[in-house]
Amino acid sequence: MRILFVGDVVGRPGRDAVEALLPGLREQLDIDACVVNGENIANGIGITPRLADRLLAAGADAVTLGNHAWRREEIGAYLASSPSVVRPANFQVGAPGRGLAVVEGRDGTRVAVLNVLGSLYLDPAHSMWELVDDLVEEARAETPIVVVDVHAEATSEKVALASWLDGRVTAVLGTHTHVQTADARVLPGGTAAITDVGMTGPHDSVIGVQTELAIRRMRTGMPVRFETASTGVRLEGAVVTCDPATGRASAIEPVRVPWP
Ligand SMILES: [Fe+2]
Repeated sequence: MRILFVGDVVGRPGRDAVEALLPGLREQLDIDACVVNGENIANGIGITPRLADRLLAAGADAVTLGNHAWRREEIGAYLASSPSVVRPANFQVGAPGRGLAVVEGRDGTRVAVLNVLGSLYLDPAHSMWELVDDLVEEARAETPIVVVDVHAEATSEKVALASWLDGRVTAVLGTHTHVQTADARVLPGGTAAITDVGMTGPHDSVIGVQTELAIRRMRTGMPVRFETASTGVRLEGAVVTCDPATGRASAIEPVRVPWP
């Protein structure tokens, strides 16, 4: 079984790239199931119900989020009833939505998708370490194929989580930094991991933001309204190959596709 995970879709350029590329990539890469991180799709920050539906229509079987999940208020009610769009599990108890979804791939094979938030700079209500074991157990009761999106700033947290879950999940894939890392590997227990899958959006930028605006804010310390950049667009992510009977991964390959 082959699972495509698409990294953080940023703004209109990212959305256009996903809509243009994903149907063809699913064919070309022989993809059975696809998960897309969509937390930056609404003008660079957050997601709306309409945009979540567009990702699903473009070929995502599940959508994950991150620290900007609540930036667009209207997504709360949507998440409360969505079977396939998840937000980090370690938000406040009682927040709408869930951090675990079980979706069906191409031939009906069930894939569990988990989303957790790291601690550094992101200040989740609960540490992911407090609940990730229970979530993984819940997922494994449904299907052996379990994909974890760990949305985190610190490489250390993401590498540590991958090792902790090695042998219990199919993949631990990092998101949030928007810079693809060169450490895709399958760990000894059969868990595929990469510290960050990268960004689907404009790479002539500072992680998606117009370069000049990002530098001005850093240099002056003054508030600067960020705008999404527009050029150097790439779809980035990773493809995980696994045994559908056991959920064990046998390979992980990073993906970087320029668009147009
Ligand atoms: Fe993020």
